[in-house]
Amino acid sequence: MPSQSPPQPSPPRYAILLYPAANRVYAESSRQLLQAELGVFSEKVLSTPILDVREEILGGAPYLTFRTAERLSDPDIAAISNLSTLYALFEIDGEGTAPPALRPVLITKLDKLDSDLLTVQKYPGKTNELFTKMLLNVTLLSTDRPAAMLDSRVHVLDPLCGRGTTLNQAMMYGFDATGLDVDGKDFEAYQHFIKTWLRAKRIKHTAESGALRLNKARLGNRLLIHFGLTKEQYKNGDARTLQYFNCDTKNVAELVKPGSVDVIVTDAPYGVQHGSHVGQKDKGTHALSRSPRDLLENSIPLWTQSLRLGGAMGISWNTHVMPRAELAAVLANNGLSIQKSEPFAEFEHRVDQSIQRDLIVARKSAR
Ligand SMILES: C[S@@+](CC[C@H](N)C(=O)[O-])C[C@H]1O[C@@H](n2cnc3c(N)ncnc32)[C@H](O)[C@@H]1O
Repeated sequence: MPSQSPPQPSPPRYAILLYPAANRVYAESSRQLLQAELGVFSEKVLSTPILDVREEILGGAPYLTFRTAERLSDPDIAAISNLSTLYALFEIDGEGTAPPALRPVLITKLDKLDSDLLTVQKYPGKTNELFTKMLLNVTLLSTDRPAAMLDSRVHVLDPLCGRGTTLNQAMMYGFDATGLDVDGKDFEAYQHFIKTWLRAKRIKHTAESGALRLNKARLGNRLLIHFGLTKEQYKNGDARTLQYFNCDTKNVAELVKPGSVDVIVTDAPYGVQHGSHVGQKDKGTHALSRSPRDLLENSIPLWTQSLRLGGAMGISWNTHVMPRAELAAVLANNGLSIQKSEPFAEFEHRVDQSIQRDLIVARKSAR
């Protein structure tokens, strides 16, 4: 009798259950965006490629499933635990048997603080917190040290920070954060929110605020907070820094030390005139006096100065006001190399009739 080789184990397969809220944010696009984000994790940081990603209905509920060449390692799981819309992760057992079993995989998120830091604030013009997390993730993964996301102290700058969604997500990851925004109401609202939140959560911190002056001229206001991720860390002098400069982003080069920022993450104004759109406020003439295109063209050279070599910049914007190729050219002209691999081309999605949103990520390389 010919000897029979033992049956090959089938490659590991996994299923992701998405946050129910993801559907409200992106309507039809939530699985497409998660797939693109997963693609970036796979390319930048995972030890085994993610293959055959698709939507599957299991037990009547939709999942995003994928297979891998090797079983996901603990560091792989630690990385993908932070996917922006991942709610739960399962390994699919009993392939070929009906029905297959979903075995929960223990996820280990980076989150250092309570989740309401990101969800309490609700206002017209807020960049959705899940979208902001995705933009931060893919930008962190595009630096020259993608794994630093998981184990290093990163400095995040949002040079158009509004009421601080990026700042809050950076705090959540245990990072240092700096924001600039010209809108005085946003500054006041954020200052009130974050001071109240830190007090309510009994997080050890110091907060200073007051006039922001540059060369004796008053630019606006300033908020500087040092906070501890734990009481012990704070007691040992290990505090994180959160600062907010309430002024025009054109002042960034004077306020933020050149080369001191690891990632810049920002959601540009959408150039929509009416108040109630996602990511857009009815702010009167000041913030809207320049088109988003002019704002980006003039600001990118200044923002780039604050970025360290090997750091990355991720921008989301409304493609109705500026085509992708044009924004890519501005970034390239400032010595930034655009991330061009397949997943980075899959993030464009419809927000509403007047906003088609996309994101672009570029790394600062030596010229
Ligand atoms: C899409 S919103 C960002 C919203 C923010 N991510 C949030 O969740 O609150 C764009 C922001 O750019 C700000 N902005 C526009 N022009 C500016 C400028 N020249 N300098 C600083 N901020 C500016 C606006 O005030 C607005 O808050």
